Amino acid sequence: MLMSTTPASVAAATPNAEQFLFSDQALLPYQAAMSEAIQRVCRQLSQQTKPTSGVTPAQLQQQLQQVDLTQPLADLSQVLDELQTTYLNDAVYFHHPHYMAHLNCPIVYPALVAEVISGAINTSVDTWDQSAGATLIEQHLIDWFCQHIGWAQQADGIFTSGGTQSNLMGLLLARDHFCEQQLDHCVKTQGLPAGAGRLRIFASEVSHFSVKKSAALLGLGHNAVVPVACDQDYRMCPLALREALHQCQRQDLIPMAVVATQGTTDFGSFDPLPQLAPICREWNLWLHADAAYGGGLLLSNQYRQRLAAIELADSVSIDFHKSFFQPVSCSAFLLRNRQWLKYAGYHADYLNPRIDAAAGIPNLVDKSLQTTRRFDALKLWLSLRWMGPNAIGELFDKAITLTQQVYDWMSAECDDIELLHQPGLSTLVFRFYHAEASDAQLDECNRQIRRRLFDEGRFALAATKVNGRGYLKFTFLNATTQLDQVQQAIAAVQQIGRQTLQPLDKPQEACA
Ligand SMILES: Cc1ncc(COP(=O)(O)O)c(C=O)c1O
Repeated sequence: MLMSTTPASVAAATPNAEQFLFSDQALLPYQAAMSEAIQRVCRQLSQQTKPTSGVTPAQLQQQLQQVDLTQPLADLSQVLDELQTTYLNDAVYFHHPHYMAHLNCPIVYPALVAEVISGAINTSVDTWDQSAGATLIEQHLIDWFCQHIGWAQQADGIFTSGGTQSNLMGLLLARDHFCEQQLDHCVKTQGLPAGAGRLRIFASEVSHFSVKKSAALLGLGHNAVVPVACDQDYRMCPLALREALHQCQRQDLIPMAVVATQGTTDFGSFDPLPQLAPICREWNLWLHADAAYGGGLLLSNQYRQRLAAIELADSVSIDFHKSFFQPVSCSAFLLRNRQWLKYAGYHADYLNPRIDAAAGIPNLVDKSLQTTRRFDALKLWLSLRWMGPNAIGELFDKAITLTQQVYDWMSAECDDIELLHQPGLSTLVFRFYHAEASDAQLDECNRQIRRRLFDEGRFALAATKVNGRGYLKFTFLNATTQLDQVQQAIAAVQQIGRQTLQPLDKPQEACA
């Protein structure tokens, strides 16, 4: 239809509802729309000079309140213009070298190619009859990673939405396996057994909060997670684990599982699997390795040995959207023996009937907590096939090496910075320090440092608490970040810190 200038005919030029459906009939407008969106992204990234804009929720809320969802805009350009102000201008940009806050990685663009393909084909990997090759690609990746862990043929796994879901799966399987083996009780069909409130999970005092969340979701409650003391490097202390187990036994509680974090969120520390695994065997405990962060070392050329003995775990969480440079979401739960996946499974007549399994038809929903599920494996597949595993490992290695350089430099040069630990991976917990300042003043000073840097958009740093005191945290995942950029961030920390605590350096003025 020819465009005219009258509003009525402009409206008529907007595709009707069916024309918006993606099919062979929509290829030209689809390509035009995709290239407009890609241009927008390219423009944004080429102009993005800071990781954040420092926008406040109230400011953005004002923009959003002007959006009337009942009134669609005339064309994609207008839609993207609106998105520019409601989202793009103020988004947080993880690719920027001054982004040093949370475990968000810059992403590799082969994965973005995969996102275009998986988004367009819209495969759901729950059953073979909705996915075909996608199911086999996911399974191939799972098998390959199980081999990298060092497990034998009977290992298996499934892609998940993230480390939180993977940890939940690990503890769900641990609980149901324990109840079946020790109490002759099937939780899946009968619910929790009497006395389930006595079941206990052991995790280090700096383990991820998703362990407690999982315990609550599993009907055991936060109190079922026993925090085990760490050594000075924030690694679970095997002796403390033994003591905690004996203590539970004395209290008539029932040890069920140990979560050994491989790369803690704050310190990047590794709970020592070579020492923890024999204790788990002795006490008949499920050993879950939360390698959501440290799992990236599976592809490392330099630091793989830090994951020593991971093959002794019963199950493992790995997050490809952390240390494999993949877009959110991309994650996996892996386990040593595929038999145990039965605790997560369900056969629905309409979807994955038992006869399918008997006929060897692979329905991944058999082993997932989700039903409809994105083909997230494709981005990792494409990244591996295009870049190769060494290149992905090299990106993580560079971030780890940078972190050690930053640590060495800060220890040698920065008198007013208190560093809490040697880096285990690519994080550093520290705070601006002044000998005359009280703990409360230091907390407030470091809080202000982070807030001001974020508000000005100069550097994005994280904050955490250790022993009740406020600290700052660097998380480095960007292989292009240079030492001098980190030195600039530290100089900014020191400058704001000194300004904030300046009164402590001056003699008190006499009262008039
Ligand atoms: C050690 C650890 N485990 C689990 C998680 C949760 O992962 P996700 O955010 O992918 O759910 C995180 C997140 O930072 C983590 O650091």
